[in-house]
Amino acid sequence: MSALSELYEEIARCQQCEIAKYRTKVVPGEGAEDAEIMFIGEAPGWHEDQQGRPFVGPAGLYLDELLASINLKRGQVYIANVIKCRPSANRDPLPVEIQNCRPWLNRQIELIRPKIIVTLGRYSMALFFPGKSISKIHGTAQKRDDIVYYAMYHPAAALHQQSLRRAIEEDMLKIPSILARAESVTEAKQQPQQLSMFEL
Ligand code: URA
Repeated sequence: MSALSELYEEIARCQQCEIAKYRTKVVPGEGAEDAEIMFIGEAPGWHEDQQGRPFVGPAGLYLDELLASINLKRGQVYIANVIKCRPSANRDPLPVEIQNCRPWLNRQIELIRPKIIVTLGRYSMALFFPGKSISKIHGTAQKRDDIVYYAMYHPAAALHQQSLRRAIEEDMLKIPSILARAESVTEAKQQPQQLSMFEL
């Protein structure tokens, strides 16, 4: 059994949050264990909770289309969420849920060691770009500790708003060139609040 599968078993046993009691299935994440690109969304919705797989509802179908626009299939990347259980009535994740789930996400990142982490939406962005606004930083990237972090809008938001849809589609198209440059880009070494963003 791979270290990632062992981690999924641990995640499935987690009962730290109240929402764990009401889940149908836990949604740890899925994809290539050696993926170069890791996408991190927000939280499972109804479809994900039913199937135990991330991004399998309407937002997921759109994510599949976005991946196809850069000739990728979901099995070639890794897809996870900030929290692994569905919040009731699709409410936003609570700070305590994000905090409780953070070690699982950290361990996924350690095991997969992606070259790029793509944050999908505000909650995922906030973990890696604290204090930033998604409308300002989407489509920009920053390298830290050998990983390039790249912020994008959430596919569910983009599905319902034409202007965001254009932005997310354009931002997705930049990923191949970011990947190609990921190793040569110099790291932002300044204080966290002064980290420089590079436009791609
Ligand atoms: N939205 C998310 O953020 N994650 C999913 O898995 C599905 C919808």
